[in-house]
Amino acid sequence: MAVSNVKGVTKGVYKYKPHEHELVKIKDGNARDELTAAAIGQTCVRESAIVIVLSAVYERTTQRYGDRGIRYVQMEAGHAAQNLYLQALSLNLGTVVVGALKDQEVRKILKMPDEEYPLYLMPVGKI
Ligand SMILES: Cc1cc2nc3c(=O)[nH]c(=O)nc-3n(C[C@H](O)[C@H](O)[C@H](O)COP(=O)(O)O)c2cc1C
Repeated sequence: MAVSNVKGVTKGVYKYKPHEHELVKIKDGNARDELTAAAIGQTCVRESAIVIVLSAVYERTTQRYGDRGIRYVQMEAGHAAQNLYLQALSLNLGTVVVGALKDQEVRKILKMPDEEYPLYLMPVGKI
């Protein structure tokens, strides 16, 4: 997640640790411009307060389910994105799924390894 304009949260790039249920800062500074460029200049990314990046390591699922795991990962990403839409709405915020992104650029910004695939950028902000 990239934070650029949230009261009480320092600008930077954060990684969500599900087991600890916490955000760990991995980089200082505003990544908004870089992320906007990685999303081929889409203004919703530039104008948002935060950008949530949903990513997947397909291997974790395909090692169990074979090639069918690819569709399971993508279904799950869709579910997670839908939940973010619902949560944003309940907070009176707006979001949108951005699938048009340059994988390698997003990986670099978020310090993701090659086996991790960024699937969605979800900019969130006041409407
Ligand atoms: C998973 C997914 C990702 C998408 N990503 C983008 C995107 O990054 N940029 C974009 O302009 N439209 C994206 N779209 C398409 C838009 O959501 C929308 O369908 C399209 O802009 C047409 O909208 P309209 O029917 O209101 O004109 C995406 C659609 C889906 C289903």
